[in-house]
Amino acid sequence: MDFRSDNTAGAHPAILEALARANRGTASAYGEDPVSARLAQRFNELFEREVAVFPVATGTAANALSLALYTPPWGAVYCHPHAHIQVSECGAPEAFSAGAKLVSVQAGPLYSLGKLDADAVARAIHREGAVHAVQPAAVSISQPSEVGTLYTPAETAQLAELARRHGMVLHVDGARFANALVALAASPAELTWKAGVDVLSFGGTKNGCLAAEAVVLFQPERARELAFRRKRAGHLLSKQRFVAAQLEAYLEDELWLVNARHANAMAHALADGFSALGVRVLGPVATNQVFAELSPCASATLRASGFQFYDWPTLGPEARRFVTAFDSRKADVDALLEELAGLRAAH
Ligand SMILES: Cc1ncc(COP(=O)(O)O)c(C=O)c1O
Repeated sequence: MDFRSDNTAGAHPAILEALARANRGTASAYGEDPVSARLAQRFNELFEREVAVFPVATGTAANALSLALYTPPWGAVYCHPHAHIQVSECGAPEAFSAGAKLVSVQAGPLYSLGKLDADAVARAIHREGAVHAVQPAAVSISQPSEVGTLYTPAETAQLAELARRHGMVLHVDGARFANALVALAASPAELTWKAGVDVLSFGGTKNGCLAAEAVVLFQPERARELAFRRKRAGHLLSKQRFVAAQLEAYLEDELWLVNARHANAMAHALADGFSALGVRVLGPVATNQVFAELSPCASATLRASGFQFYDWPTLGPEARRFVTAFDSRKADVDALLEELAGLRAAH
Protein backbone atom coordinates (compact mmCIF):
# COMPACT_ATOMS: atom_id res chain seq x y z
CA MET A 1 0.00 0.00 0.00
CA ASP A 2 2.52 2.37 -1.32
CA PHE A 3 1.70 6.06 -1.73
CA ARG A 4 5.29 7.30 -1.61
CA SER A 5 5.76 8.15 -5.29
CA ASP A 6 4.70 7.24 -8.80
CA ASN A 7 8.32 6.14 -9.17
CA THR A 8 7.65 3.18 -6.89
CA ALA A 9 5.10 1.74 -9.35
CA GLY A 10 6.09 -1.05 -11.72
CA ALA A 11 5.88 -0.92 -15.50
CA HIS A 12 2.59 -1.42 -17.33
CA PRO A 13 2.23 -4.89 -18.96
CA ALA A 14 1.73 -3.28 -22.41
CA ILE A 15 5.13 -1.62 -22.06
CA LEU A 16 6.76 -4.92 -21.17
CA GLU A 17 5.07 -6.60 -24.14
CA ALA A 18 6.41 -3.86 -26.42
CA LEU A 19 9.88 -4.51 -25.06
CA ALA A 20 9.51 -8.21 -25.82
CA ARG A 21 8.44 -7.35 -29.38
CA ALA A 22 11.39 -4.98 -29.81
CA ASN A 23 13.65 -7.76 -28.63
CA ARG A 24 13.04 -9.89 -31.73
CA GLY A 25 15.97 -9.97 -34.12
CA THR A 26 18.59 -7.29 -34.60
CA ALA A 27 18.18 -3.59 -35.29
CA SER A 28 20.52 -0.73 -36.13
CA ALA A 29 22.02 0.91 -33.07
CA TYR A 30 22.09 4.48 -31.73
CA GLY A 31 18.60 5.49 -32.80
CA GLU A 32 18.86 4.36 -36.41
CA ASP A 33 16.29 1.60 -35.83
CA PRO A 34 12.77 1.43 -37.29
CA VAL A 35 11.02 1.89 -33.93
CA SER A 36 12.85 5.19 -33.36
CA ALA A 37 11.91 6.32 -36.87
CA ARG A 38 8.25 5.49 -36.21
CA LEU A 39 8.41 7.30 -32.89
CA ALA A 40 9.68 10.49 -34.56
CA GLN A 41 6.67 10.40 -36.87
CA ARG A 42 4.33 9.61 -33.98
CA PHE A 43 5.52 12.67 -32.05
CA ASN A 44 4.95 14.88 -35.09
CA GLU A 45 1.34 13.65 -35.21
CA LEU A 46 0.90 13.99 -31.47
CA PHE A 47 2.05 17.61 -31.44
CA GLU A 48 0.40 18.48 -34.78
CA ARG A 49 3.64 19.83 -36.24
CA GLU A 50 7.23 18.90 -36.85
CA VAL A 51 9.15 18.38 -33.64
CA ALA A 52 12.46 16.72 -32.84
CA VAL A 53 12.27 13.96 -30.24
CA PHE A 54 15.26 12.65 -28.30
CA PRO A 55 14.64 9.63 -26.09
CA VAL A 56 16.67 9.56 -22.88
CA ALA A 57 16.62 7.35 -19.82
CA THR A 58 15.90 9.84 -17.03
CA GLY A 59 13.96 13.00 -16.41
CA THR A 60 17.05 14.65 -15.00
CA ALA A 61 18.82 14.10 -18.33
CA ALA A 62 15.83 15.46 -20.26
CA ASN A 63 15.74 18.61 -18.11
CA ALA A 64 19.47 19.19 -18.03
CA LEU A 65 19.86 18.68 -21.79
CA SER A 66 16.85 20.87 -22.62
CA LEU A 67 18.16 23.72 -20.51
CA ALA A 68 21.78 23.37 -21.57
CA LEU A 69 20.77 23.70 -25.22
CA TYR A 70 19.52 27.22 -24.60
CA THR A 71 21.59 28.43 -21.66
CA PRO A 72 25.17 29.66 -21.91
CA PRO A 73 27.47 29.24 -18.91
CA TRP A 74 26.65 32.84 -17.91
CA GLY A 75 22.91 32.29 -18.29
CA ALA A 76 20.14 32.41 -15.70
CA VAL A 77 17.33 29.86 -15.55
CA TYR A 78 14.33 31.13 -13.57
CA CYS A 79 12.40 28.46 -11.69
CA HIS A 80 10.31 27.82 -8.57
CA PRO A 81 12.43 27.20 -5.46
CA HIS A 82 10.87 23.73 -5.13
CA ALA A 83 11.42 22.84 -8.79
CA HIS A 84 12.88 19.40 -9.41
CA ILE A 85 15.73 21.04 -11.35
CA GLN A 86 16.52 23.16 -8.30
CA VAL A 87 16.27 20.64 -5.47
CA SER A 88 16.46 17.13 -6.90
CA GLU A 89 18.91 17.03 -9.78
CA CYS A 90 22.23 17.36 -8.00
CA GLY A 91 23.26 20.34 -10.09
CA ALA A 92 22.85 18.52 -13.43
CA PRO A 93 21.37 21.54 -15.27
CA GLU A 94 24.25 23.66 -14.02
CA ALA A 95 26.80 20.98 -14.97
CA PHE A 96 25.36 20.29 -18.44
CA SER A 97 25.29 24.01 -19.22
CA ALA A 98 28.86 24.47 -17.95
CA GLY A 99 27.82 26.65 -15.06
CA ALA A 100 24.49 28.41 -15.64
CA LYS A 101 22.73 29.70 -12.54
CA LEU A 102 19.30 28.51 -11.44
CA VAL A 103 17.50 31.50 -9.96
CA SER A 104 14.66 30.69 -7.56
CA VAL A 105 11.63 32.95 -7.92
CA GLN A 106 10.17 32.98 -4.42
CA ALA A 107 7.39 35.49 -4.93
CA GLY A 108 4.09 36.18 -6.61
CA PRO A 109 0.47 35.14 -6.15
CA LEU A 110 1.08 31.63 -7.52
CA TYR A 111 4.14 30.92 -5.39
CA SER A 112 2.27 28.95 -2.72
CA LEU A 113 0.71 26.83 -5.48
CA GLY A 114 4.17 25.75 -6.57
CA LYS A 115 4.00 27.90 -9.69
CA LEU A 116 5.71 30.87 -11.32
CA ASP A 117 3.94 33.90 -12.68
CA ALA A 118 5.26 36.25 -15.31
CA ASP A 119 5.38 39.38 -13.11
CA ALA A 120 7.35 37.63 -10.39
CA VAL A 121 9.85 36.32 -12.93
CA ALA A 122 10.14 39.79 -14.48
CA ARG A 123 10.98 41.25 -11.05
CA ALA A 124 13.65 38.59 -10.50
CA ILE A 125 15.53 39.55 -13.66
CA HIS A 126 18.57 41.35 -12.43
CA ARG A 127 21.00 43.65 -14.23
CA GLU A 128 20.08 42.58 -17.73
CA GLY A 129 22.90 43.41 -20.14
CA ALA A 130 25.44 44.03 -17.37
CA VAL A 131 28.57 41.95 -17.67
CA HIS A 132 28.62 41.50 -13.89
CA ALA A 133 25.47 39.40 -13.65
CA VAL A 134 24.14 36.18 -15.15
CA GLN A 135 21.88 36.91 -18.11
CA PRO A 136 18.31 35.74 -18.73
CA ALA A 137 18.32 32.52 -20.76
CA ALA A 138 15.36 30.35 -19.79
CA VAL A 139 12.25 30.08 -17.67
CA SER A 140 11.55 26.55 -16.50
CA ILE A 141 8.18 25.41 -15.16
CA SER A 142 6.93 21.98 -14.16
CA GLN A 143 3.60 20.91 -15.63
CA PRO A 144 2.12 19.71 -13.32
CA SER A 145 4.13 21.44 -10.64
CA GLU A 146 5.94 19.59 -7.86
CA VAL A 147 2.78 19.95 -5.73
CA GLY A 148 0.54 18.67 -8.48
CA THR A 149 -0.94 22.01 -9.56
CA LEU A 150 -1.46 23.06 -13.15
CA TYR A 151 -0.57 25.92 -15.44
CA THR A 152 -3.44 26.90 -17.70
CA PRO A 153 -2.48 27.51 -21.34
CA ALA A 154 -3.05 31.25 -20.66
CA GLU A 155 -0.63 31.26 -17.70
CA THR A 156 1.92 29.39 -19.80
CA ALA A 157 1.50 31.88 -22.64
CA GLN A 158 2.12 34.80 -20.28
CA LEU A 159 5.39 33.23 -19.17
CA ALA A 160 6.32 32.58 -22.80
CA GLU A 161 5.68 36.23 -23.69
CA LEU A 162 7.82 37.38 -20.81
CA ALA A 163 10.54 34.95 -21.88
CA ARG A 164 10.46 36.28 -25.45
CA ARG A 165 10.69 39.90 -24.26
CA HIS A 166 13.95 39.05 -22.51
CA GLY A 167 15.41 36.75 -25.17
CA MET A 168 14.70 33.63 -23.13
CA VAL A 169 13.08 30.29 -23.93
CA LEU A 170 10.32 28.56 -21.99
CA HIS A 171 11.07 25.01 -20.84
CA VAL A 172 8.46 22.67 -19.42
CA ASP A 173 9.42 19.80 -17.12
CA GLY A 174 6.70 17.33 -18.07
CA ALA A 175 7.74 14.40 -15.91
CA ARG A 176 4.00 14.00 -15.28
CA PHE A 177 2.83 15.61 -18.52
CA ALA A 178 0.03 13.08 -19.10
CA ASN A 179 -1.47 13.83 -15.67
CA ALA A 180 -1.63 17.51 -16.61
CA LEU A 181 -3.03 16.82 -20.05
CA VAL A 182 -6.00 14.79 -18.85
CA ALA A 183 -6.70 17.14 -15.94
CA LEU A 184 -6.78 20.17 -18.22
CA ALA A 185 -8.55 18.32 -21.03
CA ALA A 186 -6.16 20.06 -23.42
CA SER A 187 -4.20 18.78 -26.40
CA PRO A 188 -0.42 18.30 -26.26
CA ALA A 189 -0.10 21.19 -28.75
CA GLU A 190 -2.26 23.53 -26.65
CA LEU A 191 -0.17 22.88 -23.54
CA THR A 192 3.13 23.41 -25.31
CA TRP A 193 4.08 25.20 -28.52
CA LYS A 194 0.69 26.83 -29.04
CA ALA A 195 1.22 28.46 -25.63
CA GLY A 196 4.78 29.43 -26.56
CA VAL A 197 6.75 26.52 -25.06
CA ASP A 198 10.11 25.96 -26.78
CA VAL A 199 11.22 22.69 -25.25
CA LEU A 200 9.52 19.94 -23.25
CA SER A 201 10.84 17.16 -21.06
CA PHE A 202 8.28 14.49 -21.87
CA GLY A 203 7.91 11.94 -19.07
CA GLY A 204 6.93 8.29 -19.40
CA THR A 205 8.57 6.51 -16.49
CA LYS A 206 6.24 7.64 -13.70
CA ASN A 207 3.15 6.71 -15.68
CA GLY A 208 3.83 3.17 -16.87
CA CYS A 209 7.19 3.04 -18.64
CA LEU A 210 10.26 1.61 -16.98
CA ALA A 211 12.91 4.09 -18.15
CA ALA A 212 11.63 6.26 -20.95
CA GLU A 213 11.63 10.03 -21.16
CA ALA A 214 12.27 12.33 -24.08
CA VAL A 215 13.35 15.84 -24.96
CA VAL A 216 10.86 17.34 -27.41
CA LEU A 217 12.16 20.35 -29.34
CA PHE A 218 9.66 22.71 -30.93
CA GLN A 219 12.54 24.31 -32.81
CA PRO A 220 13.65 21.23 -34.74
CA GLU A 221 16.45 23.27 -36.28
CA ARG A 222 18.22 22.90 -32.92
CA ALA A 223 18.18 19.10 -33.24
CA ARG A 224 21.71 18.74 -34.58
CA GLU A 225 23.19 20.48 -31.57
CA LEU A 226 21.08 18.47 -29.15
CA ALA A 227 22.24 15.25 -30.83
CA PHE A 228 25.84 16.08 -29.92
CA ARG A 229 24.91 17.19 -26.43
CA ARG A 230 22.96 14.00 -25.77
CA LYS A 231 25.84 11.81 -26.90
CA ARG A 232 28.28 13.78 -24.79
CA ALA A 233 25.99 13.43 -21.79
CA GLY A 234 25.94 9.64 -22.20
CA HIS A 235 22.26 9.47 -23.12
CA LEU A 236 22.53 8.28 -26.72
CA LEU A 237 21.62 4.69 -25.96
CA SER A 238 23.12 2.12 -28.29
CA LYS A 239 19.93 0.06 -28.00
CA GLN A 240 17.62 3.04 -28.24
CA ARG A 241 14.97 0.83 -29.82
CA PHE A 242 14.04 -0.32 -26.32
CA VAL A 243 13.34 3.21 -25.09
CA ALA A 244 11.54 4.09 -28.33
CA ALA A 245 9.45 0.92 -28.05
CA GLN A 246 8.33 1.95 -24.57
CA LEU A 247 7.31 5.41 -25.73
CA GLU A 248 5.54 4.02 -28.78
CA ALA A 249 3.51 1.62 -26.65
CA TYR A 250 2.90 4.38 -24.11
CA LEU A 251 1.09 6.43 -26.76
CA GLU A 252 -0.66 3.48 -28.41
CA ASP A 253 -4.41 3.22 -27.73
CA GLU A 254 -4.06 6.24 -25.42
CA LEU A 255 -2.39 4.11 -22.76
CA TRP A 256 -0.67 7.19 -21.33
CA LEU A 257 -3.98 9.04 -20.95
CA VAL A 258 -5.81 6.04 -19.51
CA ASN A 259 -3.03 5.56 -16.97
CA ALA A 260 -2.97 9.23 -16.03
CA ARG A 261 -6.75 9.41 -15.68
CA HIS A 262 -6.68 6.49 -13.30
CA ALA A 263 -3.87 7.97 -11.19
CA ASN A 264 -5.65 11.33 -11.00
CA ALA A 265 -8.96 9.68 -10.09
CA MET A 266 -7.31 7.75 -7.25
CA ALA A 267 -5.83 11.00 -5.90
CA HIS A 268 -9.24 12.66 -6.00
CA ALA A 269 -10.81 9.69 -4.20
CA LEU A 270 -8.17 9.94 -1.50
CA ALA A 271 -8.53 13.69 -1.14
CA ASP A 272 -12.34 13.51 -0.99
CA GLY A 273 -12.04 10.79 1.65
CA PHE A 274 -9.63 12.89 3.70
CA SER A 275 -11.97 15.88 3.55
CA ALA A 276 -14.96 13.78 4.54
CA LEU A 277 -13.02 12.63 7.61
CA GLY A 278 -12.08 16.19 8.52
CA VAL A 279 -8.44 15.74 7.55
CA ARG A 280 -7.06 18.98 6.16
CA VAL A 281 -6.02 18.70 2.54
CA LEU A 282 -3.29 21.20 1.73
CA GLY A 283 -3.82 23.00 -1.53
CA PRO A 284 -5.94 22.02 -4.51
CA VAL A 285 -5.76 18.46 -5.81
CA ALA A 286 -5.50 18.68 -9.57
CA THR A 287 -3.47 15.65 -10.62
CA ASN A 288 -2.05 12.61 -8.82
CA GLN A 289 -0.61 14.13 -5.68
CA VAL A 290 -2.38 14.80 -2.39
CA PHE A 291 -0.87 16.72 0.50
CA ALA A 292 -2.64 16.39 3.83
CA GLU A 293 -2.08 17.26 7.45
CA LEU A 294 -1.79 14.21 9.70
CA SER A 295 -0.56 14.17 13.29
CA PRO A 296 2.61 12.20 14.08
CA CYS A 297 0.42 9.71 15.94
CA ALA A 298 -1.97 9.14 13.02
CA SER A 299 0.96 8.88 10.63
CA ALA A 300 2.75 6.35 12.80
CA THR A 301 -0.40 4.23 13.12
CA LEU A 302 -0.99 4.24 9.37
CA ARG A 303 2.62 3.32 8.74
CA ALA A 304 2.48 0.53 11.28
CA SER A 305 -0.49 -0.83 9.32
CA GLY A 306 1.59 -0.95 6.15
CA PHE A 307 0.72 2.34 4.44
CA GLN A 308 3.72 4.13 3.00
CA PHE A 309 3.91 7.86 2.33
CA TYR A 310 6.38 10.68 2.81
CA ASP A 311 6.52 13.52 5.29
CA TRP A 312 6.59 16.83 3.39
CA PRO A 313 8.10 19.44 5.70
CA THR A 314 8.20 22.18 3.05
CA LEU A 315 4.40 22.39 3.39
CA GLY A 316 4.35 22.30 7.19
CA PRO A 317 5.43 20.20 10.17
CA GLU A 318 2.50 17.77 9.85
CA ALA A 319 2.28 17.74 6.05
CA ARG A 320 2.37 14.32 4.35
CA ARG A 321 2.50 13.55 0.64
CA PHE A 322 0.46 10.81 -1.01
CA VAL A 323 1.09 10.04 -4.68
CA THR A 324 -1.06 7.74 -6.77
CA ALA A 325 -0.03 5.97 -9.96
CA PHE A 326 -1.48 4.12 -12.93
CA ASP A 327 -1.57 0.92 -10.87
CA SER A 328 -2.87 2.32 -7.57
CA ARG A 329 -5.75 0.22 -6.31
CA LYS A 330 -9.02 1.71 -5.14
CA ALA A 331 -9.04 -0.98 -2.43
CA ASP A 332 -5.81 0.47 -1.02
CA VAL A 333 -7.27 3.99 -1.01
CA ASP A 334 -10.37 2.69 0.76
CA ALA A 335 -8.30 0.71 3.25
CA LEU A 336 -6.26 3.79 4.14
CA LEU A 337 -9.39 5.88 4.65
CA GLU A 338 -10.98 3.13 6.72
CA GLU A 339 -7.95 2.89 8.96
CA LEU A 340 -8.02 6.64 9.42
CA ALA A 341 -11.75 6.59 10.17
CA GLY A 342 -11.13 3.95 12.83
CA LEU A 343 -8.41 6.07 14.36
CA ARG A 344 -10.63 9.15 14.44
CA ALA A 345 -13.46 7.14 16.07
CA ALA A 346 -11.08 5.88 18.77
CA HIS A 347 -10.07 9.45 19.78
C1 LIG B 1 8.96 17.20 -11.39
C2 LIG B 1 9.93 16.12 -11.76
N1 LIG B 1 10.76 16.32 -12.79
C3 LIG B 1 11.62 15.38 -13.20
C4 LIG B 1 11.70 14.16 -12.56
C5 LIG B 1 12.62 13.13 -13.16
O1 LIG B 1 13.56 12.63 -12.35
P1 LIG B 1 14.48 11.36 -12.67
O2 LIG B 1 15.79 11.90 -13.12
O3 LIG B 1 14.54 10.67 -11.37
O4 LIG B 1 13.85 10.55 -13.76
C6 LIG B 1 10.90 13.91 -11.45
C7 LIG B 1 10.99 12.63 -10.71
O5 LIG B 1 10.83 12.53 -9.55
C8 LIG B 1 9.98 14.92 -11.04
O6 LIG B 1 9.15 14.73 -10.00
